[in-house]
Order: sequence, then structure tokens, then C-alpha cells
Amino acid sequence: MKVAVLGAAGGIGQPLSLLCKASPLIDELSLYDVVNTPGVAADLSHISTPAVVAGYLPKDDGMKHAFTGCDVVIIPAGIPRKPGMTRDDLFKINAGIVRDLVKGVTEYCPKAFVLIISNPVNSTVPIAAEVLKAAGVFDPKKLFGVTTLDVVRAETFVATLSGAKNPSKTTIPVIGGHSGQTIVPLFSQANPKVDIPADKLDGLVYRVQFGGDEVVKAKDGTGSATLSMAYAGFRFAEKIIKAVKGEAGIIEPTYVYLPGIAGGDAIAKETGCEYFSIPVELGPTGAEKAFNVVSNANDQEKKLLEGCYADLKGNIEKGIDFIKNPP
Ligand code: NAI
Repeated sequence: MKVAVLGAAGGIGQPLSLLCKASPLIDELSLYDVVNTPGVAADLSHISTPAVVAGYLPKDDGMKHAFTGCDVVIIPAGIPRKPGMTRDDLFKINAGIVRDLVKGVTEYCPKAFVLIISNPVNSTVPIAAEVLKAAGVFDPKKLFGVTTLDVVRAETFVATLSGAKNPSKTTIPVIGGHSGQTIVPLFSQANPKVDIPADKLDGLVYRVQFGGDEVVKAKDGTGSATLSMAYAGFRFAEKIIKAVKGEAGIIEPTYVYLPGIAGGDAIAKETGCEYFSIPVELGPTGAEKAFNVVSNANDQEKKLLEGCYADLKGNIEKGIDFIKNPP
């Protein structure tokens, strides 16, 4: 199992690489960035776990060496938000970064699972899909927008009300996209069931949708969520790796191209969005089945979903347009 982290020297990239190095499921860890990867790799290489780690820069065919033979590619490369910025404000810079890195994937590891963390995820995943399509190697079952941090936040914040001792043991489908009102937590479908007082529900939903802003504000101009994102990114990557290795029954919300996944067409029709975060069953070939939790949303959640669709469609168009009609 060879895993590459692209943007490995960054705020997310470093702790994410540490978690990968600590995982017994990974044999080879490839760190790629435009700066500092030799140092990060040297540091991690002293940890006494099996994964063999190497760092690469763009020079000396670094991309080729970093990407070749990869089974899983995780992409947290790009600039993060500063106070007052939305994720969409990052588009100008991050769109081109994701395009160029995914072009590298098409050349050197076209069969890899690609996990996109770089924001705005609502648009960078359609960008990645268009690049993969143009190269004739797009497999919708293998392209994922990582929305796990929204799930992790929902688990954590709901536990402050439910008193659950281990927050991660409550499953909450968080669906839609990954920014502001496109993030829709379906607390009515929490398992085990949670009782949320009516006067607390709006605040809880808002906190899941805009929890990222709390971190941006607290970091006061030095960046956005990195440690919780590294945790969430690793949690999702680990599930993919376990599914590839044959573990059955793994279901996780993630942002995918619906028409390419079993059960996805009906959800695309109902939501009007081709890209959507939805619980999917992961298997050896990737996203094997999408679950239509949209149909079971209650009236309050349906209202939230209307707001989601309106924004998300525009974000998706913007990503597709960036590749089809380059600026
Ligand atoms: P950072 O600035 O600390 O790190 C980004 C790294 O990417 C830097 O080391 C930089 O050198 C590298 N990089 C830039 N261009 C590159 C290229 N062409 N090839 C390879 N590496 C390149 O930023 P941070 O905090 O790690 O955030 C990274 C991204 O993750 C941002 O876009 C941020 O918005 C996003 N993010 C996504 C979340 C999610 O839930 N999906 C949550 C939090 C952040």
C-alpha cells in the first residue's frame, strides 16, 4: 500500500503524514510539496514503524517519483483561509494547484484513489474529475472529496448536548457539500438516536456549517483547521485502505460524482446536483453504493437542503467551467 500526500509540508500535510507513518496499514509513504519535504521525510523516517517514507520536490522529476505506483493519493495542497474569507475565495489559486497535481496523477498513477482536501472542495472535486475525464482515466468510484471534518464536528458538537462519552460512536450523516449552507447535517438520522432540544437545533446546525470559522478566527490570520483536518483526513483514508484490503460494511459520507456510483442516479435526480456528499459503501473498487438519505430528511432538513442545492450547483459549474473554458 503506497500512499502519497501532496502538500505534505503544510499545516494539514505534516500531521496527516505523521498519522500515515504511524499506520501499520501503509507500506510506503511518499511526501510531495513545492517546499520542505526532504526535511519532513527525514524527520518522519526516524519513527520505528514499517512504512518507508520519502520526500520529493518538483525538481529532478520529483512528481514522477512521488506518484509512480501510488494506490492512494491525498491532496491537502493549496492556500488556507484567513479571517473574512470564504472557501470560494480560495478558488483562484487552489483550482490551478489541484488541476496540475491531478494531471500528474493521470500520468503516473491513473488507477489511484484520489482524496481531495484542498478547498473549495465543492469545486476542486469537479475540477479533478474533468482532468481525469480529459485523460480518459476517470473512475468515479475512486475520486472523493473529503468531507469527514464536517462529520467529525457534528459528532463532537452533538455530544455536548447528548452527553455521549465517546462522540465518534454516534453516526450522523452530514451531506451536501463542504462550505457554509451546503453542509447539511441530518440529525434526525443519527444512530443511536439523539434528542436535541428544539431551541438548540438551529444553533447546532449552524455550528456544524460554520465550525471552520471558529478555528479561522481563533488562529487569527495564521490559517484554518489543520490538526482536526489531519485527523479527519486520515480517518477517511484509513477507511478507504481497509475497504481496499477487503474489510466489508464500511459506510462513510463523502463528496462524489453521483452518476458514476450505484444508487447515485436517483440522488442526482432528486437533488439536481451531480456532485454531492452522501454516505457511500466502500469496497475494494472504491465507492460501491450510494445511500439515498435525502429522501428520509425531515421538513426542517429539507429546507436546509434547498439552500444547499442553490449554492452547490453554482460551485460545481464553476469547477467544470475552469477546465472546459480555461481562464
Ligand atoms: P498550508 O498553507 O499550511 O499548506 C499547504 C501546502 O501546500 C504548503 O506546504 C504548500 O507549499 C503546498 N503547496 C502549494 N502549492 C503546491 C503544489 N503545486 N504542489 C504541492 N504542494 C503545494 O495550508 P493547510 O492549512 O494545510 O490547508 C491546505 C488546504 O486544505 C487549503 O486549501 C484548506 O482550505 C484546505 N482545508 C480543507 C478542509 C476540508 O475539510 N476539506 C479543512 C481545512 C482545510
